[in-house]
Amino acid sequence: MTPDTTLELSSEDFRALVEAATRRIVDYVESLPRQPSADTDFGPELARSLVEPLPESGRPYGELLDLLFERVVPKGFNTAGPGYLAYIPGGGILHSAVANLIADAVNRYVGVFAAAPGLAQIEANVVRWFCNIVGYPATAGGILTSGGSLANFSALVTARRELLPDDFLSGVLYASDQVHHSIAKAAILAGFPEENVRLVPSDADFRIRTDLLAEAVAADRLGGRRPFLVVGSAGTTNTGAVDDLDGLADFCAAEDLWLHVDAAYGGFFLLTAEGRRRLAGISRADSVVLDPHKGLFLPYGTGSLLVRDRDTLRRAHALSADYMPPMQDDPDLVDFNLISPELSRDWRGLRVWLPIAMHGIGPFRRNLEEKLELTQWATGELATIPGIEIVAEPQLSIVAFRLARPDLDAEAENALNRAFLAAINDRKRVYLTGTMLGGKFALRICVLSFRTHFDRMREGLDDVRSAADDLRK
Ligand SMILES: Cc1ncc(COP(=O)(O)O)c(C=O)c1O
Repeated sequence: MTPDTTLELSSEDFRALVEAATRRIVDYVESLPRQPSADTDFGPELARSLVEPLPESGRPYGELLDLLFERVVPKGFNTAGPGYLAYIPGGGILHSAVANLIADAVNRYVGVFAAAPGLAQIEANVVRWFCNIVGYPATAGGILTSGGSLANFSALVTARRELLPDDFLSGVLYASDQVHHSIAKAAILAGFPEENVRLVPSDADFRIRTDLLAEAVAADRLGGRRPFLVVGSAGTTNTGAVDDLDGLADFCAAEDLWLHVDAAYGGFFLLTAEGRRRLAGISRADSVVLDPHKGLFLPYGTGSLLVRDRDTLRRAHALSADYMPPMQDDPDLVDFNLISPELSRDWRGLRVWLPIAMHGIGPFRRNLEEKLELTQWATGELATIPGIEIVAEPQLSIVAFRLARPDLDAEAENALNRAFLAAINDRKRVYLTGTMLGGKFALRICVLSFRTHFDRMREGLDDVRSAADDLRK
């Protein structure tokens, strides 16, 4: 039988492919500031034009790279560009792209310690660094996940397995009405009916009302249900609100509840003095989610779950089988498959480790400090624009605002603000999104990309001002 060796790229072909891809990546990244902040017209038409049958034979890679960089990649939100101030920006530092290339090319197996001890240790170092950032003790541990949603899911399952019996349907969990919807999704995926998720009203600063939380827990206990988990937010997606984490920790300790903190957006602000002040108490949580693909500017695909007591992860996840290799008994050596839902997976640790090992944590801290300052500056500018009301002052790097028109009814005022948002985004220099806050549509600016600096913020604020002027005419 003649072997088909096509899939084993020769050294020359591999080099040429990487060089051709690198050329296009470099051009693309250089063009990011000149690209529109979003290009969303005719997306479905593009998608339909890309539908294709399974090809029996291939096409030249130059043609394929052209297709990707000229037609496929540019359409949509420019999430990697400096004007992306929507939702929660990610960024995409290129060191991590190179790390992904290395990780995929060497293709070692990080889920089992014995299969790749060095790789597992590098990932364990990253988890330890994150635990240190949170202020966790030496007993802590954690895992890297594909993102915040799955990290929240694993946190919820871990809490359930620690505190509830196998027959867990009377278990109830609590979070503010501002919590990210991945928590309710996690609860459903973990087998809870949706009504077991209590969304407790938040206060004027969009923080959980701890008095109402206490009432809800007491009422559930009286009703024969089993409260087991409180989720605090350290940076909500809507407004960046940070719950009173110390207050929640006191309450959970007194009531024997698991405290999980969703710090997917806000957690890495712990690297800054202001963030540490805002997130005081986070180290008392039983579990914390931090998203490197938000606050460390990584490309999409890396979240993390940290737990105060690493044995809880093991108790929730450890299973093995006859065909598996021996696992480690030494608590310092981690078999990630025993503490997470995954077995085979990519080597996520490298894409966090490489940029930090290359630069230290200093540039990350300074970038986060800059984002906090830019948000304060933007808030000051917004306040000078006639008719603008600040709906949520920044607690981290999000500010929410709207045009207030007391002469209009609520519906017309919301419609005006939707038009305001569209008018800003139509200028294509920044891309903002909106949300509902207390029944009112508000616009929000979220500054988190390492590519967003003062020049783009000033352009964005000019666009906000001119769009507001236009709407007044
Ligand atoms: C506060 C918060 N939690 C959780 C998530 C979910 O994270 P991911 O999109 O990585 O699944 C997000 C996403 O923006 C978020 O802002």
